[in-house]
Amino acid sequence: MKSLRGRDFLSVADFTSEELRFVIDTAYQLKQRFYAGERVIPVLKGKTLLMIFQKPSTRTRVSFEQAMVQLGGHVMSFNWQELQLGRGETIADTARVLSRYVDGIVARVYKHSDLIELAKYAEIPVINALSDKEHPCQAVGDMLTILEKKGRLKGITLAYVGDGGNNVAHSLILAASKLGVNVRVGTAEGYDPDPDIVKLAEAEAKLNGSYIEIVRKPEEAVKGVDVVYTDVWVSMGQEAEKEKRERDLGKFRVTPELMKLAKEDAIFMHCLPAHRGLEVVDEVIDGPWSVVWDQAENRLHAQKAILALLL
Ligand code: CP
Ligand code: NVA
Repeated sequence: MKSLRGRDFLSVADFTSEELRFVIDTAYQLKQRFYAGERVIPVLKGKTLLMIFQKPSTRTRVSFEQAMVQLGGHVMSFNWQELQLGRGETIADTARVLSRYVDGIVARVYKHSDLIELAKYAEIPVINALSDKEHPCQAVGDMLTILEKKGRLKGITLAYVGDGGNNVAHSLILAASKLGVNVRVGTAEGYDPDPDIVKLAEAEAKLNGSYIEIVRKPEEAVKGVDVVYTDVWVSMGQEAEKEKRERDLGKFRVTPELMKLAKEDAIFMHCLPAHRGLEVVDEVIDGPWSVVWDQAENRLHAQKAILALLL
Protein backbone atom coordinates (compact mmCIF):
# COMPACT_ATOMS: atom_id res chain seq x y z
CA MET A 1 0.00 0.00 0.00
CA LYS A 2 1.23 3.49 -0.89
CA SER A 3 1.79 6.02 1.88
CA LEU A 4 -1.17 8.28 2.73
CA ARG A 5 1.13 11.27 3.16
CA GLY A 6 -0.13 14.42 1.44
CA ARG A 7 -3.60 13.03 0.80
CA ASP A 8 -6.90 14.82 1.51
CA PHE A 9 -9.68 13.22 3.54
CA LEU A 10 -12.94 14.80 2.40
CA SER A 11 -14.94 11.61 2.07
CA VAL A 12 -14.63 8.04 3.33
CA ALA A 13 -14.64 7.20 -0.39
CA ASP A 14 -11.19 8.86 -0.68
CA PHE A 15 -9.64 5.77 0.94
CA THR A 16 -9.64 2.19 -0.31
CA SER A 17 -10.80 -0.54 2.08
CA GLU A 18 -7.17 -1.38 2.76
CA GLU A 19 -6.26 2.25 3.48
CA LEU A 20 -9.24 2.73 5.77
CA ARG A 21 -8.40 -0.42 7.69
CA PHE A 22 -4.81 0.81 7.98
CA VAL A 23 -5.99 4.13 9.51
CA ILE A 24 -8.19 2.25 12.00
CA ASP A 25 -5.40 -0.15 12.94
CA THR A 26 -3.04 2.81 13.41
CA ALA A 27 -5.61 4.48 15.67
CA TYR A 28 -5.91 1.26 17.68
CA GLN A 29 -2.14 1.11 18.15
CA LEU A 30 -1.86 4.78 19.08
CA LYS A 31 -4.56 4.30 21.71
CA GLN A 32 -2.76 1.26 23.17
CA ARG A 33 0.50 3.19 23.31
CA PHE A 34 -1.26 6.13 25.00
CA TYR A 35 -2.61 3.84 27.71
CA ALA A 36 0.80 2.18 28.08
CA GLY A 37 2.10 5.59 29.17
CA GLU A 38 3.28 7.24 25.93
CA ARG A 39 1.27 10.41 26.28
CA VAL A 40 3.19 12.14 23.51
CA ILE A 41 4.40 10.36 20.37
CA PRO A 42 6.12 13.28 18.61
CA VAL A 43 5.84 12.22 14.96
CA LEU A 44 4.49 15.69 14.01
CA LYS A 45 7.11 17.73 15.86
CA GLY A 46 7.53 21.09 14.11
CA LYS A 47 4.27 20.70 12.13
CA THR A 48 1.24 22.97 12.42
CA LEU A 49 -2.41 22.21 11.77
CA LEU A 50 -4.88 25.00 11.04
CA MET A 51 -8.57 24.48 11.77
CA ILE A 52 -11.48 26.51 10.40
CA PHE A 53 -15.03 26.22 11.73
CA GLN A 54 -18.24 27.53 10.18
CA LYS A 55 -20.34 25.70 12.80
CA PRO A 56 -20.05 24.89 16.50
CA SER A 57 -18.07 21.85 17.65
CA THR A 58 -17.06 20.26 20.94
CA ARG A 59 -15.68 16.80 20.16
CA THR A 60 -14.11 17.45 16.77
CA ARG A 61 -12.44 20.68 17.72
CA VAL A 62 -11.12 19.58 21.10
CA SER A 63 -10.03 16.12 19.95
CA PHE A 64 -8.16 17.49 16.92
CA GLU A 65 -6.39 20.05 19.12
CA GLN A 66 -5.50 17.42 21.68
CA ALA A 67 -4.44 15.02 18.92
CA MET A 68 -1.88 17.56 17.69
CA VAL A 69 -0.58 18.02 21.25
CA GLN A 70 -0.20 14.25 21.66
CA LEU A 71 1.66 14.07 18.33
CA GLY A 72 4.06 16.85 19.34
CA GLY A 73 2.73 19.42 16.83
CA HIS A 74 0.98 22.79 16.98
CA VAL A 75 -2.54 23.83 16.17
CA MET A 76 -4.37 27.07 15.34
CA SER A 77 -8.13 27.21 15.37
CA PHE A 78 -10.41 29.89 13.91
CA ASN A 79 -14.02 30.58 13.20
CA TRP A 80 -14.62 31.25 9.51
CA GLN A 81 -15.74 34.80 10.33
CA GLU A 82 -12.47 35.65 12.08
CA LEU A 83 -10.49 35.09 8.89
CA GLN A 84 -10.75 37.30 5.79
CA LEU A 85 -12.96 34.52 4.42
CA GLY A 86 -15.71 36.15 6.46
CA ARG A 87 -15.21 39.37 4.46
CA GLY A 88 -15.26 37.65 1.11
CA GLU A 89 -11.66 36.64 0.39
CA THR A 90 -12.03 33.63 -1.87
CA ILE A 91 -11.53 30.07 -0.69
CA ALA A 92 -8.97 29.58 -3.47
CA ASP A 93 -6.82 32.55 -2.38
CA THR A 94 -7.10 31.51 1.26
CA ALA A 95 -6.01 27.98 0.40
CA ARG A 96 -2.98 29.23 -1.56
CA VAL A 97 -1.86 31.45 1.33
CA LEU A 98 -2.43 28.93 4.11
CA SER A 99 -0.39 26.38 2.17
CA ARG A 100 2.63 28.67 2.64
CA TYR A 101 2.23 28.72 6.44
CA VAL A 102 0.93 25.43 7.78
CA ASP A 103 1.10 21.69 7.12
CA GLY A 104 -2.57 20.74 7.05
CA ILE A 105 -6.08 22.18 7.18
CA VAL A 106 -9.10 20.81 9.03
CA ALA A 107 -12.39 22.47 8.10
CA ARG A 108 -16.02 22.21 9.23
CA VAL A 109 -18.31 23.79 6.65
CA TYR A 110 -21.92 23.96 5.54
CA LYS A 111 -21.34 23.23 1.87
CA HIS A 112 -19.28 20.21 0.91
CA SER A 113 -18.39 22.02 -2.33
CA ASP A 114 -16.46 24.57 -0.24
CA LEU A 115 -14.22 21.76 1.02
CA ILE A 116 -13.64 20.56 -2.51
CA GLU A 117 -12.68 24.11 -3.50
CA LEU A 118 -10.32 24.39 -0.53
CA ALA A 119 -8.66 21.08 -1.36
CA LYS A 120 -8.35 22.01 -5.03
CA TYR A 121 -6.22 25.07 -4.29
CA ALA A 122 -4.40 23.91 -1.15
CA GLU A 123 -1.02 22.27 -1.56
CA ILE A 124 -1.37 20.60 1.83
CA PRO A 125 -3.81 17.94 3.09
CA VAL A 126 -7.39 19.09 3.72
CA ILE A 127 -9.46 17.10 6.20
CA ASN A 128 -13.26 17.22 6.44
CA ALA A 129 -14.35 17.98 10.01
CA LEU A 130 -18.03 17.70 8.90
CA SER A 131 -19.90 19.10 5.93
CA ASP A 132 -23.53 18.83 4.84
CA LYS A 133 -22.57 15.63 3.01
CA GLU A 134 -20.11 13.70 5.17
CA HIS A 135 -18.36 13.33 8.52
CA PRO A 136 -15.53 10.94 7.64
CA CYS A 137 -13.40 11.39 10.79
CA GLN A 138 -16.44 10.40 12.85
CA ALA A 139 -16.74 7.18 10.85
CA VAL A 140 -13.09 6.26 11.53
CA GLY A 141 -13.63 6.66 15.29
CA ASP A 142 -16.88 4.71 15.06
CA MET A 143 -15.30 1.77 13.27
CA LEU A 144 -12.50 1.75 15.86
CA THR A 145 -15.16 1.60 18.58
CA ILE A 146 -17.00 -1.31 16.94
CA LEU A 147 -13.70 -3.16 16.46
CA GLU A 148 -12.85 -2.71 20.15
CA LYS A 149 -16.28 -3.68 21.43
CA LYS A 150 -16.98 -6.57 19.07
CA GLY A 151 -13.45 -7.80 18.30
CA ARG A 152 -14.04 -7.67 14.55
CA LEU A 153 -15.72 -5.65 11.80
CA LYS A 154 -16.43 -8.17 9.04
CA GLY A 155 -19.80 -9.82 9.52
CA ILE A 156 -21.06 -7.32 12.11
CA THR A 157 -24.54 -5.92 11.42
CA LEU A 158 -25.24 -2.27 12.20
CA ALA A 159 -28.66 -0.60 12.18
CA TYR A 160 -28.69 3.13 11.60
CA VAL A 161 -32.05 4.43 12.79
CA GLY A 162 -33.24 8.00 12.13
CA ASP A 163 -32.23 10.58 9.53
CA GLY A 164 -30.67 8.37 6.87
CA GLY A 165 -29.72 11.30 4.68
CA ASN A 166 -27.33 13.17 6.94
CA ASN A 167 -23.55 13.53 7.00
CA VAL A 168 -22.96 11.00 9.78
CA ALA A 169 -25.16 8.37 8.12
CA HIS A 170 -23.39 8.83 4.78
CA SER A 171 -19.87 8.39 6.15
CA LEU A 172 -20.95 5.50 8.37
CA ILE A 173 -22.57 3.65 5.46
CA LEU A 174 -19.49 4.11 3.29
CA ALA A 175 -17.06 3.03 6.02
CA ALA A 176 -19.15 0.02 6.99
CA SER A 177 -19.47 -1.23 3.44
CA LYS A 178 -15.72 -0.83 2.87
CA LEU A 179 -15.04 -2.97 5.95
CA GLY A 180 -17.59 -5.74 5.45
CA VAL A 181 -20.07 -4.45 8.05
CA ASN A 182 -23.73 -5.04 7.07
CA VAL A 183 -25.90 -1.92 7.26
CA ARG A 184 -29.63 -1.64 7.74
CA VAL A 185 -30.91 1.91 7.52
CA GLY A 186 -34.27 2.43 9.21
CA THR A 187 -35.69 5.74 8.06
CA ALA A 188 -38.81 7.49 6.80
CA GLU A 189 -39.56 8.16 3.17
CA GLY A 190 -37.78 11.35 2.10
CA TYR A 191 -34.89 10.74 4.52
CA ASP A 192 -32.97 8.08 2.59
CA PRO A 193 -29.22 8.37 2.10
CA ASP A 194 -28.03 10.13 -1.06
CA PRO A 195 -28.48 7.66 -3.95
CA ASP A 196 -24.86 8.22 -5.08
CA ILE A 197 -23.62 7.20 -1.63
CA VAL A 198 -25.87 4.14 -1.63
CA LYS A 199 -24.60 3.13 -5.06
CA LEU A 200 -20.98 3.47 -3.94
CA ALA A 201 -21.69 1.61 -0.71
CA GLU A 202 -23.50 -1.21 -2.53
CA ALA A 203 -20.52 -1.73 -4.84
CA GLU A 204 -18.13 -1.79 -1.86
CA ALA A 205 -20.39 -4.09 0.15
CA LYS A 206 -20.51 -6.55 -2.74
CA LEU A 207 -16.70 -6.67 -2.82
CA ASN A 208 -16.53 -7.19 0.92
CA GLY A 209 -19.31 -9.74 1.31
CA SER A 210 -21.75 -7.48 3.16
CA TYR A 211 -25.04 -5.77 2.34
CA ILE A 212 -26.83 -2.46 2.74
CA GLU A 213 -30.59 -2.22 2.93
CA ILE A 214 -33.12 0.50 3.64
CA VAL A 215 -36.26 -0.31 5.61
CA ARG A 216 -39.19 1.82 6.78
CA LYS A 217 -39.78 0.25 10.21
CA PRO A 218 -37.33 0.81 13.08
CA GLU A 219 -38.20 -2.65 14.47
CA GLU A 220 -37.23 -4.29 11.21
CA ALA A 221 -33.97 -2.34 11.10
CA VAL A 222 -32.74 -3.35 14.55
CA LYS A 223 -33.91 -6.97 14.65
CA GLY A 224 -30.96 -9.16 15.67
CA VAL A 225 -28.27 -6.54 14.99
CA ASP A 226 -24.97 -6.07 16.84
CA VAL A 227 -24.97 -2.27 16.79
CA VAL A 228 -27.77 0.30 16.93
CA TYR A 229 -26.67 3.77 15.83
CA THR A 230 -28.53 7.04 15.70
CA ASP A 231 -27.89 10.74 15.19
CA VAL A 232 -29.97 13.89 15.54
CA TRP A 233 -33.03 14.40 13.34
CA VAL A 234 -32.18 18.07 12.84
CA SER A 235 -28.58 18.69 11.81
CA MET A 236 -26.80 22.03 12.10
CA GLY A 237 -28.20 24.27 9.39
CA GLN A 238 -31.58 22.48 9.20
CA GLU A 239 -33.20 24.34 12.10
CA ALA A 240 -35.95 25.77 9.86
CA GLU A 241 -37.20 22.22 9.18
CA LYS A 242 -37.22 21.26 12.86
CA GLU A 243 -40.95 20.66 13.30
CA LYS A 244 -41.39 18.70 10.10
CA ARG A 245 -38.34 16.53 10.75
CA GLU A 246 -39.39 15.74 14.31
CA ARG A 247 -42.83 14.77 13.06
CA ASP A 248 -41.59 12.67 10.14
CA LEU A 249 -38.89 10.84 12.12
CA GLY A 250 -40.79 10.55 15.40
CA LYS A 251 -41.26 6.79 15.24
CA PHE A 252 -37.50 6.20 14.86
CA ARG A 253 -36.70 7.08 18.49
CA VAL A 254 -34.31 4.59 20.12
CA THR A 255 -35.98 3.26 23.26
CA PRO A 256 -35.26 0.27 25.55
CA GLU A 257 -38.08 -1.60 23.76
CA LEU A 258 -36.31 -1.10 20.44
CA MET A 259 -32.91 -2.09 21.87
CA LYS A 260 -34.41 -5.34 23.18
CA LEU A 261 -35.10 -6.40 19.58
CA ALA A 262 -31.37 -6.25 18.79
CA LYS A 263 -28.92 -8.98 19.88
CA GLU A 264 -28.64 -9.48 23.62
CA ASP A 265 -25.11 -8.03 23.63
CA ALA A 266 -25.94 -5.22 21.19
CA ILE A 267 -24.33 -1.83 21.72
CA PHE A 268 -25.83 1.62 21.26
CA MET A 269 -23.84 4.33 19.48
CA HIS A 270 -24.41 8.05 18.83
CA CYS A 271 -21.92 10.51 17.38
CA LEU A 272 -23.18 13.17 19.87
CA PRO A 273 -24.37 15.78 20.66
CA ALA A 274 -27.62 13.95 21.46
CA HIS A 275 -31.06 15.42 21.74
CA ARG A 276 -32.22 13.36 24.68
CA GLY A 277 -35.90 12.48 24.45
CA LEU A 278 -35.98 12.88 20.68
CA GLU A 279 -33.82 10.42 18.70
CA VAL A 280 -32.82 8.57 21.88
CA VAL A 281 -34.16 8.39 25.43
CA ASP A 282 -32.09 8.64 28.64
CA GLU A 283 -32.63 4.95 29.53
CA VAL A 284 -30.74 3.96 26.38
CA ILE A 285 -27.96 6.55 26.20
CA ASP A 286 -27.29 6.14 29.94
CA GLY A 287 -28.14 2.43 29.93
CA PRO A 288 -26.17 -0.83 29.68
CA TRP A 289 -26.10 -0.81 25.87
CA SER A 290 -24.46 2.58 25.52
CA VAL A 291 -20.82 2.96 24.46
CA VAL A 292 -21.12 6.65 23.55
CA TRP A 293 -18.38 7.94 25.88
CA ASP A 294 -15.82 5.42 24.60
CA GLN A 295 -17.01 6.33 21.11
CA ALA A 296 -16.42 10.02 21.81
CA GLU A 297 -12.97 9.26 23.25
CA ASN A 298 -12.05 7.33 20.14
CA ARG A 299 -12.38 10.49 18.05
CA LEU A 300 -9.08 11.52 19.66
CA HIS A 301 -7.20 8.37 18.74
CA ALA A 302 -8.77 8.23 15.28
CA GLN A 303 -7.75 11.81 14.61
CA LYS A 304 -4.20 11.11 15.75
CA ALA A 305 -3.99 8.32 13.19
CA ILE A 306 -5.43 10.51 10.41
CA LEU A 307 -3.05 13.37 11.19
CA ALA A 308 0.02 11.18 11.66
CA LEU A 309 -0.56 9.42 8.34
CA LEU A 310 -1.62 12.39 6.18
CA LEU A 311 0.70 15.10 7.55
N1 CP B 1 -19.60 14.24 16.87
C1 CP B 1 -19.13 15.48 16.62
O1 CP B 1 -18.56 15.77 15.57
O2 CP B 1 -19.31 16.37 17.65
P1 CP B 1 -18.99 17.93 17.63
O3 CP B 1 -20.04 18.58 16.78
O4 CP B 1 -19.08 18.32 19.07
O5 CP B 1 -17.62 18.14 17.06
N1 NVA C 1 -25.64 15.34 11.87
C1 NVA C 1 -25.15 16.23 12.89
C2 NVA C 1 -23.84 15.73 13.39
C3 NVA C 1 -23.17 16.59 14.43
C4 NVA C 1 -21.84 16.04 14.87
C5 NVA C 1 -25.05 17.64 12.34
O1 NVA C 1 -24.61 17.82 11.20
O2 NVA C 1 -25.43 18.58 13.04
